[in-house]
Amino acid sequence: MKFFVDTADVSEIRELAAAGLIDGVTTNPSLILKANRPMKELIAEICDIVDGPVSAEVGAIEYDEILREGRILAKIAENVAVKVPLTLDGLKACRTFVDEGTMVNVTLCFSAPQALLAAKAGATFISPFVGRLDDAGVDGMELIQDIRTIFDNYPDFSTEILAASIRSVNHVKDAAKAGADVATIPPATLKSLVKHPLTDKGLDQFLADWTKTGQRIE
Ligand code: E4P
Repeated sequence: MKFFVDTADVSEIRELAAAGLIDGVTTNPSLILKANRPMKELIAEICDIVDGPVSAEVGAIEYDEILREGRILAKIAENVAVKVPLTLDGLKACRTFVDEGTMVNVTLCFSAPQALLAAKAGATFISPFVGRLDDAGVDGMELIQDIRTIFDNYPDFSTEILAASIRSVNHVKDAAKAGADVATIPPATLKSLVKHPLTDKGLDQFLADWTKTGQRIE
């Protein structure tokens, strides 16, 4: 399973990339707003840090404008994945971008039929939003399971399931169990994957006992 980090915060990306923990990055307009920097410059910097796909989302909703913006974003670096909304215009643009050799992440997926359409449009990634479905009182992880089942029925589909809107360690575990190809995870959640109270307790004990041995490994 690949891990992408869901942020536009360059210092967080640098830290996680240096730890060898991330295979890519996803951004969205809300994350760009939070970073408060010019988008093209920011995406270029992120693409320099991370070799894997870096999702950069268009702000347009009409086909021609999506194409215009997406082509500008795709020129920033080879590892840009243009992010388009799951609409008819977005799917049409997805097909055009894929035919031009550009990676595409189709975003804001909330149903299995939507994912099926994205796969038919040749999307590189489909992003089902687990947390936002949970927020709406629907089991978001069930959507990942349904999409996995459907895609496995049609081996010709090459679209990867990118579990998005991940909010917890359990979301990551359950997305992996459900067979998501990728999870895009906020930095704090990604870092918290390493945590377990028994790891901390065991480490304290081992450190104390090691000190008592009076030994050094040289
Ligand atoms: C995915 O690409 C989105 O950027 C992201 O996962 C949305 O998450 P949110 O629902 O926590 O905003």
